[in-house]
Amino acid sequence: MAEPRVVLLPGDGIGREVAEQARLVFGRLAPDVELDERAIGAAAIRATGDPLPEETLAACRGAAAVLKGPVGDPEFDAADVRPEQGILRLRAALDTYANLRPAVSREVDLLIVRELVGGLYFGESGVREDGTVFDTCEYHPSQIERVVRRAFALAQARRGRLTSVDKANVLETSRLWRRIVDALAPDYSDVRVEHMLVDNAAMQLATAPERFDVLVTENMFGDILSDLAAAVTGGLGLAPSASLSDTGPGIFEPVHGSAPDIAGRGVANPAAMLRSTALLLEHGLGRVAEARALAHAVDHALAHSPTADVGGTATTAGFGAAVREQLVLTETAVASYSAGNASRA
Ligand code: NAD
Ligand code: IPM
Ligand code: MN
Repeated sequence: MAEPRVVLLPGDGIGREVAEQARLVFGRLAPDVELDERAIGAAAIRATGDPLPEETLAACRGAAAVLKGPVGDPEFDAADVRPEQGILRLRAALDTYANLRPAVSREVDLLIVRELVGGLYFGESGVREDGTVFDTCEYHPSQIERVVRRAFALAQARRGRLTSVDKANVLETSRLWRRIVDALAPDYSDVRVEHMLVDNAAMQLATAPERFDVLVTENMFGDILSDLAAAVTGGLGLAPSASLSDTGPGIFEPVHGSAPDIAGRGVANPAAMLRSTALLLEHGLGRVAEARALAHAVDHALAHSPTADVGGTATTAGFGAAVREQLVLTETAVASYSAGNASRA
């Protein structure tokens, strides 16, 4: 069988810096996997005029998984063709509707399941003759059902609690969302469901994040709440995500953006990108042992060689080196354990 191929999209700003650390980890943990680097975002606009060139999309469609750095560049903030359009089109093209954003610390272990290909991000928008500008939020019931079913199943495999977040006191789409959650609940009788309004959910995330297990919500609410969840569990530098479809390749990317304020200085925290790499190893390639080893090595580097955003002095490269050093130690320990078992057998 041909070796698996993973598309690497470094993206913009600190994306290139953190992607380089992911590439080095791949070389250690999965040297047989072909890393196929392609352009997206501002880098792709500069090279081709398109934030998601056809060849990048074609490479992603045929890959086992996509590992992506953040896109975005202040240079294009007011342009008609913007870097962010590249990631939105990629998510839609691969139909990665289930965006898993775990937020974990010593006290907190929650998972946000964000709907990723509907709502305000993909509704009709435009300008009317009188100058009014509009964005519309639409959801078809089937779009809600598939992501809510995913969230129920994930809650079953965790602590059995699901919080569905909406704005049902105001929005029609939220009332539909709530009806669908209630209609599906009997299929998952071992999951305890609650509904929560999004403003209250933000307050609870800030003050009592440990009360949550799985949260499921629409696209825009999930975007905002996942930055908040990252902030209360150590910061954006730590938060990974996995965007999954039903059949095709997943997209694995940090929650954070291209961080123009620190880009080019070699000080960005690569932990979120490396944790996204661990999610890719597990969910995209089925390599659970390697995923565990990497997650452990990242935790170890955070404890012993933290970057500035989490109170340390390590550079991006220094953090990456600490991760790889820990991976070597783990490999050596596993090898000598196996050898010990073999000699006893
Ligand atoms: P941001 O996430 O880039 O940065 C917010 C703050 O967090 C900044 O102070 C930044 O320095 C810090 N930060 C983020 N990641 C860090 C890391 N790994 N290590 C250390 N510090 C880190 O958000 P922003 O400034 O609002 O957005 C910048 C650009 O990124 C925008 O163009 C936006 O559209 C884009 N963006 C892209 C993605 C994506 O591609 N998935 C996600 C979010 C934002
Ligand atoms: C994220 C980002 C994106 C989003 C932007 C860059 C389009 O903020 O992945 O959280 O809003 O989905
Ligand atoms: Mn975001």
